[in-house]
Amino acid sequence: MTDDVGKKGCPGCEEASEEELLARLDEIIEKYKAKPGALIPVLQMAQGIFGYLPEAALKHVALGLNKSYSEVAGVVSFYSFFSTVPRGKNIIRVCLGTACYVRGGLDVLEAIKAKLGIDVGETTEDRMWSLEVARCFGACGLAPAVSINDEVHRRVRPARINQMLAQYMEREEVAENVG
Ligand code: FES
Repeated sequence: MTDDVGKKGCPGCEEASEEELLARLDEIIEKYKAKPGALIPVLQMAQGIFGYLPEAALKHVALGLNKSYSEVAGVVSFYSFFSTVPRGKNIIRVCLGTACYVRGGLDVLEAIKAKLGIDVGETTEDRMWSLEVARCFGACGLAPAVSINDEVHRRVRPARINQMLAQYMEREEVAENVG
């Protein structure tokens, strides 16, 4: 069972250069710099723009918000939702909250690790998948749960992992053919 919320895929989007992305970030910094508590929202938006937080983006944020680079880098390393390495097109999160853990979340995690050939916090070489763990998606009644991008898959069984991941690989192929 899945929640189809905001499916990803934008075959018409063109890749922007790093300069263009930094210009977008500068625009955001300009809007936020006078606001108290701007650092985290600006970092979240920077991650939305780049897909992760490259050093150049962190330097722009530090300079623009008048903070030291080490303060900005410290905040980024403190929060697990920030990433300083490029992530995959699909982010797969395995819930290890109590209900999911008790109902086999770890077995699901092991099956996904084996299928993708990566560990938690890693990205596949083809940049298709990044694997993370999470604490609770609010789907405890139908545990164990796994989220892929914006979709929550419930009652996931290790034996159904191939089928679950195949849907996303097929979507990718359709998007490429359309583009
Ligand atoms: S514990 Fe996994 S969804 Fe709540």
